[in-house]
Amino acid sequence: MRAPREPFRIKMVEPIRATTREEREAALAAAGWNVFQLAARDVELDLLTDSGTGAMSQAQWAALMLGDESYAGSESFRRFRAAVEDVLGFPFVVPAHQGRGAEGVFFGAVIDEGEIVPSNAHFDTTRAHIEIRGGIALDFPVPEALDPGTWAPFKGDMDVAGLRELLDGPDGGRVSIVMLTITNNAGGGQPVSLANVRAVAEVARAHDKKLVLDIARFAENAWFVKQREDGYADVPLPEIVRALVADADAVLMSAKKDAIANIGGFVAIREDVEFFHRLQMRGIVSEGFPTYGGLAGRDLDAIAVGLREVLDEEYLRHRTEQVAFLGEALVEAGAAVVQPVGGHAVYVDAGATLPHVPVDAFPAWALSCELYLAGAVRAAEIGSVMAGRDPETGENRHPPLELLRLAVPRRVYTSRQLEHAADAIREILRDRDAVRGYELVAEAPVLRHFTARFAPLEERVAAPAPAEPAGA
Ligand code: F0G
Repeated sequence: MRAPREPFRIKMVEPIRATTREEREAALAAAGWNVFQLAARDVELDLLTDSGTGAMSQAQWAALMLGDESYAGSESFRRFRAAVEDVLGFPFVVPAHQGRGAEGVFFGAVIDEGEIVPSNAHFDTTRAHIEIRGGIALDFPVPEALDPGTWAPFKGDMDVAGLRELLDGPDGGRVSIVMLTITNNAGGGQPVSLANVRAVAEVARAHDKKLVLDIARFAENAWFVKQREDGYADVPLPEIVRALVADADAVLMSAKKDAIANIGGFVAIREDVEFFHRLQMRGIVSEGFPTYGGLAGRDLDAIAVGLREVLDEEYLRHRTEQVAFLGEALVEAGAAVVQPVGGHAVYVDAGATLPHVPVDAFPAWALSCELYLAGAVRAAEIGSVMAGRDPETGENRHPPLELLRLAVPRRVYTSRQLEHAADAIREILRDRDAVRGYELVAEAPVLRHFTARFAPLEERVAAPAPAEPAGA
């Protein structure tokens, strides 16, 4: 695959500092073998997240200068609200400082003790907001989502039969909202088909439940619908976006993703003025007055421009092709990669890539450390470290896959720079069996992956015959 051609040129640059292997070894040891604890200046290719890390366009930077910093009723808010209504069709919007701020405002108003919230797969902050209010967050992925090796167009879909069973069963009365996350981040950045959104909406409506969408990556999802779903190849993207959200009663947005802003988020609803006022009141307590919601006026302007800009087809083509390019480069380098590659990130199946590292020695964590040591590349573990401990037994939880997520910031790196991650993987795999596992030395009771400290295991673990890597 050739690198996709960028539909933009570069007007401002930020230098990257070169590091030596010795410097990286010292930096990682000082960081407790946890890449979250590294200083960003010690990283050369930062693929930790696509959240808030995008490069704004000239139009967004220009919009910043128009920011109206009035406490109440600013012009920036008016422009922001108009963009949300224009792109998504929701007239009532409560801004928040970022996605989880919007989640706090929304779930504070809807979750009671014992409430069950089904979803295709909850993102971790969404799950946390439900659980801290005594709710239960349940995932209903489709079966193919759990098979990293097979290609399916919409692995982000929700298992509709499972949802129906829940709603028809004895616990159906404990559900008041059904959620879908588009694209499905926890499920590998996989898109949700329009057919699935409609099927879920129908089941929800038939049971008198509200449908709520997490639309952090709505534009990438719409692009996949256009590319992969029958009948949408010629439908303009703005129409596909409207169709995706048409059945939703509310949407939750992290503007740090598909509004290509560095900060921001919102909750938007279609009707129900009384509920809107309740959301506004909740927003005032934690986020700020309802016309700024924890943001500067200029941030609202950057979001307003980004929400429209993100639907540019040339941008989305390049975006998704660049992520796919990284995926192919990693496969060529010998990594097992979850198929198909998602909209914002490549998920390396570290368990299959490093089969000799047992799950209790944290293979995906080990790969994150090696990637940094070999190439100053930073990526995020989504495996047994992030999964934490079982609250009842205190044992480490082991999810079905030990993944390493390489998330691509929007419009930030060239494809040649992304290739560097594949070069680093190739170097690591040249002496695969030398990769050691890690042991936990210190950890926090919640979200331990951000701050935990580790030590590399001294001994090499005996290597079984390597498994056939998925997707290779
Ligand atoms: N929903 C989804 C699907 C997300 O991916 C995120 C954040 C949030 C909500 C929360 O938004 O960060 O603005 O508060 N995901 C980031 C990530 C952190 O790296 O995937 P936020």
